[in-house]
This record gives sequence, C-alpha cells and structure tokens, in this order.
Amino acid sequence: MKIWQLVMIHLLTHTLLFFTPSSQPTNNQTSNYGVDLPVLLSFKSFITSDPTRALSSWSWDPAGNGTSTASLPVYCEWVGVACSNRRHPGHVTAIRLQGIGLAGTICPQLGNLTHLRVLDLSANNLAGEIPGSLGRCTSLHALDLGVNYLSGSMPASLGLLSKLTFLNVTHNNLTGDIPMPFSNLSALSNLSMSSNHFHGQIPSWLGNLTSLTHLELAQNGLTGHVPPGLGKMTNLVKFDIHDNKLEGPFPPSMFNISSITLLDIGFNQLSGSLPLDIGFKLPKINVLATHVNQFKGPIPASLSNASSLKYLLLRGNQYHGLIPRDIGIHGRFRSFSLGHNVLQATEPRDWDFLTSLTNCSNLGILDLEQNNLEGVMPVTIANLSKELKWIALGSNKIAGTIPAGLVAFQKLTMLILADSLFTGTLPLDIGQLPSLQYLDLSHNRFDGKIPQSLGNITQLSNLSLSNNFLDGSIPASLGNLTKLTSLDLSSNSLKGGIPQEILSIPSLTVLLNLSNNALSGSIPTQIGNLNSLSTIDLSMNKLSGEIPDAVSSCVQLNSLYLQENLLEGQIPKGFSSLRGLENLDLSNNNLAGAIPDFLQTFELLTYLNLSFNNLSGPVPNTRIFGNATIVSLAGNSMLCGGPPFLKLPSCPSHQANSTESVS
Ligand SMILES: *[C@@H]1O[C@H](CO)[C@@H](O)[C@H](O)[C@H]1NC(C)=O
Ligand SMILES: *[C@@H]1O[C@H](CO)[C@@H](O)[C@H](O)[C@H]1NC(C)=O
Ligand SMILES: *[C@@H]1O[C@H](CO)[C@@H](O)[C@H](O)[C@H]1NC(C)=O
Ligand SMILES: *[C@@H]1O[C@H](CO)[C@@H](O)[C@H](O)[C@H]1NC(C)=O
Ligand SMILES: *[C@@H]1O[C@H](CO)[C@@H](O)[C@H](O)[C@H]1NC(C)=O
Ligand SMILES: *[C@@H]1O[C@H](CO)[C@@H](O)[C@H](O)[C@H]1NC(C)=O
Ligand SMILES: *[C@@H]1O[C@H](CO)[C@@H](O)[C@H](O)[C@H]1NC(C)=O
Ligand SMILES: *[C@@H]1O[C@H](CO)[C@@H](O)[C@H](O)[C@H]1NC(C)=O
Ligand SMILES: *[C@@H]1O[C@H](CO)[C@@H](O)[C@H](O)[C@H]1NC(C)=O
Ligand SMILES: *[C@@H]1O[C@H](CO)[C@@H](O)[C@H](O)[C@H]1NC(C)=O
Ligand SMILES: *[C@@H]1O[C@H](CO)[C@@H](O)[C@H](O)[C@H]1NC(C)=O
Ligand SMILES: *[C@@H]1O[C@H](CO)[C@@H](O)[C@H](O)[C@H]1NC(C)=O
Repeated sequence: MKIWQLVMIHLLTHTLLFFTPSSQPTNNQTSNYGVDLPVLLSFKSFITSDPTRALSSWSWDPAGNGTSTASLPVYCEWVGVACSNRRHPGHVTAIRLQGIGLAGTICPQLGNLTHLRVLDLSANNLAGEIPGSLGRCTSLHALDLGVNYLSGSMPASLGLLSKLTFLNVTHNNLTGDIPMPFSNLSALSNLSMSSNHFHGQIPSWLGNLTSLTHLELAQNGLTGHVPPGLGKMTNLVKFDIHDNKLEGPFPPSMFNISSITLLDIGFNQLSGSLPLDIGFKLPKINVLATHVNQFKGPIPASLSNASSLKYLLLRGNQYHGLIPRDIGIHGRFRSFSLGHNVLQATEPRDWDFLTSLTNCSNLGILDLEQNNLEGVMPVTIANLSKELKWIALGSNKIAGTIPAGLVAFQKLTMLILADSLFTGTLPLDIGQLPSLQYLDLSHNRFDGKIPQSLGNITQLSNLSLSNNFLDGSIPASLGNLTKLTSLDLSSNSLKGGIPQEILSIPSLTVLLNLSNNALSGSIPTQIGNLNSLSTIDLSMNKLSGEIPDAVSSCVQLNSLYLQENLLEGQIPKGFSSLRGLENLDLSNNNLAGAIPDFLQTFELLTYLNLSFNNLSGPVPNTRIFGNATIVSLAGNSMLCGGPPFLKLPSCPSHQANSTESVS
C-alpha cells in the first residue's frame, strides 16, 4: 500500500503563497532601536544551527548603526524580517525563514510581537513545543510551522488568534487533539495538521468554520465518525483526511460542497457510496480518493461529466457493477485506480470504458486488478497513453494473449497480469521495456519459452512467471538482471540445468524459486554466491548429485527447500553455518549418512523435514527433535534412538558405528 501513499503525497505537494503586505512605511524611527529588537535577538539565541547563515545579518552594534539615520530600526532589513505597518512603523510584521535548515526551538518571546502578521518557519529542523505565548500575537494572519520536528500538543491559546486565516503545522511530531478554542478561529481558511500524531475525534464544530477552504488532517490517529456538520463548510476546496482510523458512514452532505476539488478519505474504515449525480454535484473535482475503505455501490456514470477529474482512486472497496463506458471521455485521467473491488465485465461492450480511456493522453496508472472482469483483453489497450507507468490487471478472468504493441509503453515500470486466463507465448520483444521493474505474469496459461530478451530489462527487480506452462530451458541471460531481488519460475515445465549465471545475481535477496519444474543436473556450486538470499526453493525437480557444500555460504537463508529431487550423498557438514534456518526440507531424496548433531542447536527451526531418504544412525534426542510438529523423519529405515514418539529401534550400544555420527 505504501506505493499508493507515495502517489498521494506526490499529488498533494504544493508551494505556499503567503499574504504579502505591500504598504510602505510613512514614518521613521530614528530615535530608538525599535521595541521589537530584544525579541528578535532572543529568537536568534534559541537557534542552535543556521547552516545557510541567514541569521548572520541579525546583529546589531549599539554604538554604531542602532542610532543610524535609517528611517526604520535596523532589524527591518534583516534577512526574513519585514516591518511594513502603516500605523505602527518599526514593528515587525513578518518573519519568513522557511526551508533554511534552522535548528533549535521557537522562542516564547515571539508572543511579544503583537503586530506580527506572518510567521513562517516551515521546512526547518525546529524541535520542542509550539510556545503558548504565540496566542498573544493577535495580529497574526498566517502561521506556518509545517515540516519541522515540533512536539507536544497544539496550544489552546492559538484559539485567541481571531485574525488567523492560515495555520499549517503539517509534518511534525505533534500530538493531542484539535483544541476546542479553535472553534473561535472564524477567519480561518486554511487548517493543515496532516502527518502528526493527533488523536481524538474530528470535532463537529469544525463545520462552523465556514471560511475554511483547505482542511488537511491526513496521516494522524484520528478516530470516530466524520461529523455530518462538516457539510456546512460550503467554501471547501480541499478536504484531506486520508490515513486515519476514522469509521462509520461518511456523511453524504460532503458531496454537496460544489467548490471541492480534492476529496481524499483513503485508508480509513469509512462506509458509504458515491451519489449517482456526483459528477454534477462536484463539477470541479480533480482528485476523488476513497481508496481502502468500505464503500459500496456503483461507480456513477456522471463522473464522465467531471471534466477536471485527474485522479480517481477507488481501489480497495466493494464497488460493484460495470465501469461506466464513457468514464475517460474528458481525457484528463492521470491515475485510474479501481483495483480490489467487485466490478464486472461480462460482455465485450462492458470493456468500452477502456476505449474511452484512450482519450487520456497523460494516463500514468491503470489499476483494475482483483475484480470480476471477464472477457478477452481488448486490443485497444495498445492505444492507451504511452505515459503509462503501471498496468495492473491481474486477478480477474481476462483471457487472450498479451496484445501486440506492448513495447510502445516505454515508461512502464510495473506490469501485473497475474492470476488470470491469459494464453499464448510471452512476447519476444518484452525485453524492450527498459524501465520495467516489476513483472508478474504468474498463474496464467502462458506456454512456449522464456524469452531471452528478458535479460535485457536491467531495471527488473521482481520477476514472476510461476504457474504457467512454460517449457524449454532457463535463459542464462537472466543472469544479466543485476537488480533482481526476487525470481520465481516455479510450477512450469522448464527443463535442462540451472544456469550458473542466475546463481550469481548478487541482488537476489528475497526469493529464488525454481520448484516444480523438470530441471536436471546437479546444483551448481555458484549457489554459494547467493549469500544475501533468504529463500531458495529448488524442490520438485530432477536435480541429482550431492548437495554442494557451497550452500553453506548462503548464510542469510531462512528457508531451504530441496525436497523431491534425486539428491544423494550426505547432508553437508557446512550446513552448520546456516543458523538462521526456519524451514529446511530435504525430504524425498536419496540422502544417506547421519543426521548432523548441529541441527539440534538451530534455535529458529520450526520445520525440519528429512523424511524418505536413506539416513542412518542415531537421532538426536534434545530440543527440536523432541517436538513432533517440527521434525519429520519418516521413511528412513536405518535410523535409531531419538524421542519415544518416533518409535525407532534403540541404537546398538556398540562403539563401532558411532564414528558415523557427525558432531
Ligand atoms: C501545509 O504545508 C505543507 C508542507 O509545506 C504543504 O504541502 C501544504 O500544501 C500546506 N497546506 C496548505 C493548505 O497550504
Ligand atoms: C523622521 O522623524 C523625525 C522626527 O520624528 C523628523 O524630524 C524627520 O524629518 C523624519 N525623517 C524622515 C526621513 O521622514
Ligand atoms: C549594523 O551593524 C552590523 C554590525 O556592525 C552590520 O553587520 C550590519 O550590516 C549593519 N546594518 C546596517 C543596516 O547598517
Ligand atoms: C516578552 O515575552 C516574555 C515571555 O513570553 C515575557 O516574559 C516578557 O516579559 C515579555 N517582554 C516584553 C518586553 O514584553
Ligand atoms: C490556502 O492554501 C492554498 C494552497 O496552499 C493557497 O493557495 C491559499 O492561498 C491559502 N489561503 C490562505 C488564506 O493562505
Ligand atoms: C515524537 O514524539 C514521540 C512521543 O510522542 C517520541 O517518542 C518520539 O521520539 C518523537 N520523535 C521525534 C523524531 O521527535
Ligand atoms: C471564544 O471567544 C469568546 C469571546 O471572545 C469567548 O467567550 C469563548 O470562551 C471562546 N471560546 C473558546 C472555546 O475558547
Ligand atoms: C456551531 O454552530 C451551531 C449553530 O450553527 C451552534 O449551535 C454551535 O454552538 C456551534 N458550536 C460551536 C462550538 O461554536
Ligand atoms: C538486448 O539488447 C542488446 C543491446 O540493446 C541487443 O543488441 C540485443 O539484441 C538484445 N537482446 C535481445 C535478446 O533482445
Ligand atoms: C547477457 O547474458 C548473455 C548470456 O549470459 C551474455 O552472452 C551477454 O553478454 C549478456 N549481456 C550483457 C549486456 O551483459
Ligand atoms: C513444537 O513446535 C511448535 C512450532 O514451533 C510450537 O508451537 C510448539 O509449542 C512446540 N511444542 C513443544 C512441546 O515445544
Ligand atoms: C554398522 O552399520 C552398518 C550399516 O551402516 C551395519 O551393517 C553394521 O552391522 C553396523 N555395525 C555394528 C557393529 O552395529
């Protein structure tokens, strides 16, 4: 889900525009240093780091320029300071020090700047609490403390700032709830408290702040219902409460606020449905995001009238019915994400929406995965925007071959067609998708060979072709995929040996799964190169020869599956280095010799299957070997001893054969 959050963060990034006073001073202040001087000097003294040296201009020589003939106090020319008050010349009206890496805390003395209209300390490294004394800056119009490390709760005293129109504390470490005194901030038009640790409920009195245009409470721990009274905020432009713990019915009144351009309620437990006339009620909607909630009902056809709609994120709900045929007709979509719902397509014309999406020349994300879409993949998919980065159509019942022309999508980074009814061979030109990072074609009916050209997609990090009817050998060219972290070719009909090249991919850290094929030959010793890999599964093949001692170099392994092969020889002594193993399955081979004693000391083992081999000699009788749910040893006729539940014959007491046991 992280990936969707990234999309949202991306599209919510904006630059701030601040109130900028334009009046010029009409008086002068020759006879004093200005009453605000001590406040600014103490502000500076609370700053512990100033990497751009912005505050180096904040200095003052009592014998020198403090009594200069300049018409305003010296500090009015300091970087980031403005004094432009007609009636009270010489008073600081704005401090703007955003994005310059200031560290330290915010000085409580700032509360003395009663003429301050703008305080912008955003995007610094300020820590500590927001001083309650700021409630005395009664001229304050804009307060931006966003993107710092501020902690503690919001001072209730800020509710006294009756002129405040802009309050942004986004992306800090603030906690507590939305203080009740904020109900007095009747001038407030922008309230941004996203990305903190605020908790408690969204108060219903927020709906009384009818000047609000921007309400951002995303990524906090807010709970309870969304109060229906919020529908009174008839000037609302952006409403963002995504990623909280809100639950219950989402108030339909919110869909009557015709000024809304962004409505993002994703990642909560809200229920509801989209009004059928939403496209007319929210004519300016640009971002409509209810992803990962419990919304039901159809996707209204009226959305095709919302001519500004660029981001439709409805993934992860229970929307049902057909996807409206003209939904893309306005041509604006950048992200069309309807995955994980119960949407239907049964007849060819139910796919008409895809043709309408070909109007969207900036479409970057097409996500329809995990729905009930049936039918043959329409060839018009090849006419979709060449800007596409993600195509996710998996877990439907889509049949047919991969349409020709895929190679035109040069910006594609993710292609998921898994778990469907696709047939035919993999396109030979698939290697000409240079940006592809994630390719999942598993659980289909693809046949033919794995194209060698796959080895040309050097950005590939996840490749799964498992559970198809692919045959032929594994192309050695896959060894060129130096960013691959996970390779799954399991459950096909692949033949031949395991190419040593693919065992030399240093980036493989997650999975190498070649199981359930017809691979033969011995396990190449290059397997020892996979020393960062956590799971190797070569089970259910025709691999023969001994298990190479080189496997002992795969020290990050937590699962090793070699069962159902033709492996022989002993369990390598070097396995004693695989202390992180949780799962080890060597069953159904021809392994001989003794069970190594060191296996008893593998603290993490929860599954050890050595059954149906020719192992012999004594079974250790301690630790995991005493636990029937961990250890399986059946079908090794020459074992003896061990815990009683194994019902093995007791070991002969002669010394003669004890040399066999490995310690
Ligand atoms: C609040 O600040 C954040 C971070 O600077 C910014 O992304 C967001 O757009 C601001 N909110 C408003 C309403 O200006
Ligand atoms: C500044 O004020 C003083 C007296 O308050 C006045 O004599 C002087 O002319 C003023 N200077 C300017 C540049 O306005
Ligand atoms: C005031 O004096 C300080 C220190 O001498 C100097 O750095 C600064 O530039 C002076 N400012 C003005 C406006 O003259
Ligand atoms: C400024 O504020 C501080 C703390 O809020 C207070 O102790 C001090 O008396 C004030 N100074 C002036 C000159 O008002
Ligand atoms: C509110 O935030 C938006 C977006 O950041 C900005 O365009 C607008 O000017 C802000 N309004 C006020 C009153 O600051
Ligand atoms: C954020 O606040 C929590 C307590 O609310 C504290 O444990 C944590 O260390 C703080 N993180 C930072 C980066 O200040
Ligand atoms: C709001 O302001 C009024 C008058 O200024 C005051 O009486 C009231 O206590 C304030 N409400 C809150 C919740 O602070
Ligand atoms: C909100 O407004 C309603 C009437 O519109 C009023 O009854 C209620 O007291 C107000 N709430 C607050 C906290 O001001
Ligand atoms: C891989 O790319 C190289 C260079 O771009 C090209 O010469 C070669 O034919 C490609 N191989 C395959 C199998 O597509
Ligand atoms: C890719 O792999 C093949 C087969 O292993 C090899 O012949 C070829 O040189 C490799 N290409 C690149 C660009 O490394
Ligand atoms: C046996 O192992 C299982 C799985 O690790 C564990 O849940 C169980 O508690 C163990 N039983 C005994 C008796 O140690
Ligand atoms: C030692 O083991 C072998 C089989 O591994 C067996 O044939 C032989 O009888 C055993 N010798 C003794 C003394 O138990």
